[in-house]
Amino acid sequence: MRLVDTHVHINFPDYGQDLTAVRRRWQEAGVCRLIHACVTPEDFSKMQAIADQFPEVSLAVGVHPLNTAEFWQEDSAEQISTLAQSDPRVVAIGETGLDFYKAENQREQITAFQHQLRIAEELNLPVIIHCRDSAQTTYEVLKDFPRVRGVMHCWAGNPVETEWFLGLGMYISFSGIITFKNAKQVHESCKIVPSDRLLIETDCPFLAPHPQRGKRNEPALVQYVAQRLAELRNTEVWEIAEQTTNNAFTLFNLWSREQVLYAHSPSLARKEAEYLSYPQPAR
Ligand code: NI
Repeated sequence: MRLVDTHVHINFPDYGQDLTAVRRRWQEAGVCRLIHACVTPEDFSKMQAIADQFPEVSLAVGVHPLNTAEFWQEDSAEQISTLAQSDPRVVAIGETGLDFYKAENQREQITAFQHQLRIAEELNLPVIIHCRDSAQTTYEVLKDFPRVRGVMHCWAGNPVETEWFLGLGMYISFSGIITFKNAKQVHESCKIVPSDRLLIETDCPFLAPHPQRGKRNEPALVQYVAQRLAELRNTEVWEIAEQTTNNAFTLFNLWSREQVLYAHSPSLARKEAEYLSYPQPAR
């Protein structure tokens, strides 16, 4: 079974001591690719160092909505755009989006979100969208960027909201939240997303799935998300794995990343190919 964890933060100090062991466990669980989300561009060099070590890690660059108050400045958009073009391992812009849960800087978040959507559009990269207590506004902002594709990450919205974003062509990524008993409305959302728009993620170190709830999360545990999604959709876990892995390869254009790796680093590509058995392109 091959899985892609489409949202990790393994640069966080939570993994300072044992990232090699964490990696061994994600390999054992069949996680063949990870998309490393970015909270602020200041983290980018550490993320690059992790990707140097583990070639299955692809990168995103952006400013998280909750970090806009501290980190969004006049030149942030240019900085993100430059970093995105500086490394062929960058496969997405984000995470960006809106988090109105406790925010007092809604205007600033919207501005930062719009800038990052424009970069995604210019560079033809997908966006990773964080959306908390802000579905309506997120939808309104996104609507103005019809050419931008992306993913609603760590999705917890109800079926009506899910339909809005599906209507805009977005992918929907489910996390450990769907393994929680009380998450009834997102369980309903799990059932209505078309197979070709489904993704899975851990959002680690946060939101460890049941039966590890409350502990530190890690990429290997994305298997519990796949398992629960299969139950909710009344299908088999291997089928969820195959669908979500193919979708991740398509959205983040990981097929072409392989070509980049082969062109620039034949030895790395060979090493990677030995360890990973890639799913083949659908076409
Ligand atoms: Ni995140």
